[in-house]
This record gives sequence, C-alpha cells and structure tokens, in this order.
Amino acid sequence: MTFQGHIEGIALGPYINGTRRKVSGDAHPSYDPATGEVLCDVPVSGTDLVDEAVEASRIALKGAWASVTPAERSRMLNRVAQAIRKDAQRLATVECLDSGKPLREAVGDIETSARYFEYYAGIADKLQGDTIPLGPDFVSFTMHEPIGATAHIIPWNFPLVTTARGLAPALAAGATAVIKPAEQTPLTALMLPVYLEQAGIPAGVVNVVCGPGKMTGAPLTQHPGIAHVTFTGSVDTGKTVMMSAASHIASTTMELGGKSPVVVLADADFDAAIEGTLKAIFTNAGQVCSAGSRLVIERSVADKFLSELIKRIEQFTFGHGLDNPNIGPVVSKQQLLKIEGIVRDSVSAGAELLTGGNIKRPDKLNGWFFEPTILLAGDSSTKCVQEEIFGPVLTVQIAADFEHALELAEGTDFGLVAGIYTKDVSKALRFSRKISAGQVFINQFFAGGVETPFGGTKNSGFGREKGLEGLKAYYTVKTVTARI
Ligand code: NAI
Ligand code: MG
Repeated sequence: MTFQGHIEGIALGPYINGTRRKVSGDAHPSYDPATGEVLCDVPVSGTDLVDEAVEASRIALKGAWASVTPAERSRMLNRVAQAIRKDAQRLATVECLDSGKPLREAVGDIETSARYFEYYAGIADKLQGDTIPLGPDFVSFTMHEPIGATAHIIPWNFPLVTTARGLAPALAAGATAVIKPAEQTPLTALMLPVYLEQAGIPAGVVNVVCGPGKMTGAPLTQHPGIAHVTFTGSVDTGKTVMMSAASHIASTTMELGGKSPVVVLADADFDAAIEGTLKAIFTNAGQVCSAGSRLVIERSVADKFLSELIKRIEQFTFGHGLDNPNIGPVVSKQQLLKIEGIVRDSVSAGAELLTGGNIKRPDKLNGWFFEPTILLAGDSSTKCVQEEIFGPVLTVQIAADFEHALELAEGTDFGLVAGIYTKDVSKALRFSRKISAGQVFINQFFAGGVETPFGGTKNSGFGREKGLEGLKAYYTVKTVTARI
C-alpha cells in the first residue's frame, strides 16, 4: 500500500519571504509510519537559509506587517481560519499519513488549528494597554508592542495544531515568525503558506524552514535576530534551546511534556472514568504531552476497574490511520524502540505486565505499532512511573485512600496536567489546590480547548499557551510617563 498520491502538489522547499526556495543538497525523508515507507524527501535548510528566513521576518516586522492595522490583522487571521477549513479534508489526510495518527484525530486537529486563528483573530484589535494613576502632575500609560521575530520549534505529535497554537497569537500581537516543523512531520507546515497567502498575509511575516534539530533548529534558535522561541518537545532538547536563546537574551516558552496522573477515586462515575482513562492514554497512541499516562486508582475499586480497562483494550483495532483504527502506529522506529525499551526495563525492575507489552505487526503493514499496554508499577522509582514513554502504555499505581492518591500523583519531576474522577467536590478542589500541574481536569480528561491556558510546572516547562495567556509571550509592554 502506498499513498504518495495524497501528497502530490505539496511544495516541499523552504518558504522564505513569500517565495519557495529551491534547495540542492541535503534532504530528509518523511515516512508514513504505518507502512514504514518514505512519503517524500524534504530539502534541509541549513544556516544560510535560516539566516535569510530570520532576516525576512525582521524586515517584515518593521515593514509590511507593521503597516497592517490591528483590525486588518484580525480579518486576515479569520481568513486563514476559513482557508484551513476549506481544505480541511486534504490537510487531515496529509497529517494522518505523515504522523500516523487516526484520520478522525487528524480531522479534529485541523479544525482546532483553524479555531486557533479564529480565536486570536478576535483579540488582534483589542490588545490595549492601561493608564496608570500617578496624581495630577503626570500622565502614564502602557503600550503593547510586538516582541519581534519569533522562532517556533514544532514537535511531530501534533504538527499543525502546535504550529497554529504559537503562530496565531504571535501574528495577532503583530510579531512575525519562522516555523521549524519536526523532521518527521513537515508536510502540513509546508502547506500552511498557501492559506496565509490566500488570507493576504504579507511576504516575510511567516517563513517555514525544514530539517533536523541540529541542522535547522539549532541555527534558528541561536540566531541573534530571534526575540522569542516557542518550543515544544523533550526536556533535553528544551534545555539546549534555552541555552541557545540565553546566548542572545531571547525569551522562551517551554512545553516539555509530562507524566500526568489520572486519579480515580472509589466514588467516581465508573463509566466516565473508564472512558476518560482510555482517552487519556490511547489518543494518538499515547504520543501526547498531556497524556494521562499514570492511572492512580483507589484500592477498593482497582480490580473491577482494571478488568474493564483490559477488556476494552483487548478489543482495540489496529491499522493504517486512514482506516480509522483505535490505535495507529507510533511516529518512528526510534520512538517504537524507546517505548519497547522502557517497558522492558520496567518489567525487569518489578513492574507487572497486565496486558500488551510488545511490538505489533498488523496485517500487511510494516510500520511501527505497539500494543496498548498496562503496567502495574512496583516501586515509584520504576521508569514506567518516572519517565515519559510517549506511547500507548499506561502505568497503574494503587492508592490506599485520597491522601495516598495525592501523594502518588505528585510523585514525579513533571507537572503538566492532572486529572481526577470523583463525585466529592471538596476532594476534587483540594486535589486541584495541592497538585503541581499547569492544568487540572475534573471528571473529564482533556477538558478545555483553545480558550484555556496550557503549560507546565517543574520539568514540564514554563510559560502558557492557548487562551488570552498565550498572547503574553508575543508582546512587550512599554510604559510612557510624562510630567505635565
Ligand atoms: P525533540 O525535543 O528532540 O524534538 C522536538 C523538536 O525540536 C523537533 O522539531 C526537533 O527537530 C527540534 N530540535 C531537536 N534538537 C534541536 C536543537 N538542538 N535545537 C533546536 N531544535 C531542535 O524530541 P524527539 O527526539 O522528537 O522526541 C523524543 C521524546 O521527546 C519523545 O519520546 C517524547 O518523550 C518527547 N516529546 C515531547 C513532546 C511534547 O509534546 N512535549 C513532543 C515531542 C517529543
Ligand atoms: Mg512522516
């Protein structure tokens, strides 16, 4: 099975200052993770092209983009949303092929991407400052100014959504951007310029350069012309990117993943908690920064809950994302081997395998599939409790009572999201107050949307994206004070 036809016509060259550049030299393959076949070879932008892209975004910042009024920026962002929606089916198909995710999830991703542009369109002409009372002899006020040219380093698990999550508020605030998609999933970011052009966004405002982190991401984040770096990915790469940004005093937003708990108390709505737990860990085959990858369950309901979970998982279908299976492939062979390795190490260290645990080979597909897996954690120091696996692997921790559940939930170096299922409002709110997390989900995992601020604490990073909070990275505040 090959699906190359779906990607015909996508311009693969870097998009710099409103034009597609021809690049001879290095190219990086992008695979269809379900078949393991190369979909296309995408030209790599090295330091020279990255420099040109940053230069273009700096010129547009002071030039073409600065002369567009906020009201017109707002209209343009709305038109981007419309253009994405118009081409949603094709975008979803390409996203599905490039990343491996089930088509229905890709369809959801594309709609969310459009929604980011629509949401931030609504604020582009309302970003206003304050007047500050200093008494009769002064007038003091603040102005919001675009932060500058911004770099966006995108991961492979939510390619277009993560791009839109950073780009839409950056543009709303009047900043410009250079996008560096993940080398595993560059295609929808390469399609984006078509919609930006249809919406009338001037040349140079958004540039797209592709390639591996070291070849393309590093020169971009090290570039002194970049004022802010928005990064989503691993903790280690995040540290490197922060050091690059520090070398030229650029601010950063760091979204670094997690090991988020789903706490199920004995009084929880059983069915809602089952559905929530399945969704928390098996969406996108577990490759979600905010995945609920640890089930912390109260002992009195644990047996019944785990039996039901295993029963449900054993009915899961596998297959190519285009066939909408319950579980699609993981993004790469490297990711597959990482998952297998952590599962194996955890079992050797005393975790008990309740179901799954192996690489899977569905009919006629040579791609990278892993069985949905449940591990009963032994010790809290086991890798499956502490490390982000980024695969369809749920770690279970049994809690004696609510206080113990809270202690287990809190017991990692991460703090991205935390979920709780209970009918006891006071326990839910007590949990919300005590837990280290950027967001808490009560009685529905992944509750919220583009409107709700999102980000981490501890090793999960810092800064907030989404909602009105997400704008703050993209403007600076200038205070003007006059003695009158
Ligand atoms: P990564 O953090 O290395 O890659 C993320 C992005 O950073 C990619 O666009 C990559 O090209 C870029 N990058 C890599 N090195 C760079 C550098 N030196 N300078 C600038 N940009 C650079 O993550 P990777 O290797 O793809 O995945 C490893 C693990 O990271 C996963 O197993 C998962 O645990 C975690 N991860 C977390 C994500 C999240 O949503 N928080 C997303 C992707 C991965
Ligand atoms: Mg791919």
